[in-house]
Amino acid sequence: MALRSIRIEGDELLRKISKPVEEINDHIITLLEDMAETMTEANGVGLAAPQVGVLKRVVVIDVGDGVIELINPQIMETKGERKTVEGCLSVPPINGAMVQGEVIRPQWVLVKALNRFGEEIAIEGTELLATALCHEIDHLEGILFIDKAIRIINDEE
Ligand code: CO
Repeated sequence: MALRSIRIEGDELLRKISKPVEEINDHIITLLEDMAETMTEANGVGLAAPQVGVLKRVVVIDVGDGVIELINPQIMETKGERKTVEGCLSVPPINGAMVQGEVIRPQWVLVKALNRFGEEIAIEGTELLATALCHEIDHLEGILFIDKAIRIINDEE
């Protein structure tokens, strides 16, 4: 496994639409493992492949219950709304102050994806997991939380 460098807002690649994975080969497995390591090292709760410069529909999430790997994830259903406060590894602090945003996200989401074995999996998420699923899947469409934020917060941590 290896750490990969994280693209920062302003990098055009973050604004591109990622392509579906057609074959889960060694490159994809290495990508998943590198992304998990990179996310953990950066204390993130999620990372999408375009953030490490790869325009493929691959996401890793860890909200504290272990790493979830998602290939070609799709939001199938959502319920409710909730105001979240979120940040992103691609939106670094400004003058030492974290950049976060208030975003309206679903209370509950159902996501369908493939795991590394090519099996179809379904994940239901509420609270932080629901937010992380939506936030990471947005990255695959070139969308950052700052696009959706109803308010940006730039406070000292
Ligand atoms: Co992000």
